[in-house]
Amino acid sequence: MLDGKKSLFSGMQATGTLTLGNYLGALKNWVDLEDEYECFYCVVDLHSITVRQNPAELRKRARDLLTLYIAAGLNPEKNCIYYQSHVSAHSELAWILNCFTYMGELNRMTQFKDKSKKHADNINAGLFTYPVLMAADILLFQSDVVPVGSDQKQHLEITRDIAERFNSIYGDVFTIPEPYIGKVGARIMSLQEPSKKMSKSDENPNASIYLMDDPDTIIRKFKRAVTDSDNEIRYSEEKPGIRNLIDIYSSATGKTIPEIEKEFASSGYGDFKLAVGEAVVSLLKPIQDKFAELSKDKAYINSIIKNNADKANYYANKTLRKVQKKVGFPERIRS
Ligand code: TYM
Repeated sequence: MLDGKKSLFSGMQATGTLTLGNYLGALKNWVDLEDEYECFYCVVDLHSITVRQNPAELRKRARDLLTLYIAAGLNPEKNCIYYQSHVSAHSELAWILNCFTYMGELNRMTQFKDKSKKHADNINAGLFTYPVLMAADILLFQSDVVPVGSDQKQHLEITRDIAERFNSIYGDVFTIPEPYIGKVGARIMSLQEPSKKMSKSDENPNASIYLMDDPDTIIRKFKRAVTDSDNEIRYSEEKPGIRNLIDIYSSATGKTIPEIEKEFASSGYGDFKLAVGEAVVSLLKPIQDKFAELSKDKAYINSIIKNNADKANYYANKTLRKVQKKVGFPERIRS
């Protein structure tokens, strides 16, 4: 809760190119929430350096991601869209919360286990304490809800545990956040291995639809999507490839699963894959066009970066000062 209004925080890493999973699982839901909440949407560049980055590329990707938030429909007048690295309170609160988080809790995080396997040559302390920085992001803005895909659920749970632990010692300092996970699209799977989630870091480019893929590429990737061989469009646990395509089609068109099964009752996989591809092309085309247009307007994007960082700093520092006082740091002397 911020100034009497419910608040919301979410973010994305500027690592790699956004996928359809990022869009359907998170960004698409964000756009509907701006009237109900005071919203903060962050480009989490501090999190990105837990994995080695090329500096020039990271800078470009961070700007592209911020532009993409707006291109996808977030109104920057209503939603505070900013870079995490422009608000130093994120790092400062993360340090304090580190001292209220147990190694055992962090050891249980599945994302840490997965990333440690993938980056065995660089298992740094930042990768281990990543969820604490995420808790700081969320708690700084007294967030009531956090709209994410289902892969972030465990990180939301640890955030709640840290906040409850802190509150039990110091009183009601933090709002306890709830995850907001959409009914469809919360876990979009790889097109090549439908038992795995679609991921920015997948080495096989055919496994993911990237938000900037052109129409031909999108259609081609869907045509190649791995399915079973019984040629029946039915939503079932035993048919992970088809189930994923139904989820994508449902999320892109707003149609329900029974409606989709009925629509394609007499079609084969070829026709269905083409229909899914076309639905995704229609969904992404306006975002791609808007992105191209906004990217040219440097002054406009710069003004958003500046104004929103000021707003984010204002609210974040309010919470940080309260926390610093509670833990016993000396008061600042003002002249
Ligand atoms: P990131 O950058 O991996 O993903 C951004 C958002 O996309 C969702 N997502 C998916 N949803 C459905 N299907 C998929 N295949 C899929 N892949 C990704 C994620 O759930 C996420 O909502 N740690 C976070 C970033 C972060 C954050 C935060 C999020 C940092 N601080 C505070 C919320 C609140 C991450 O790496 O997301």
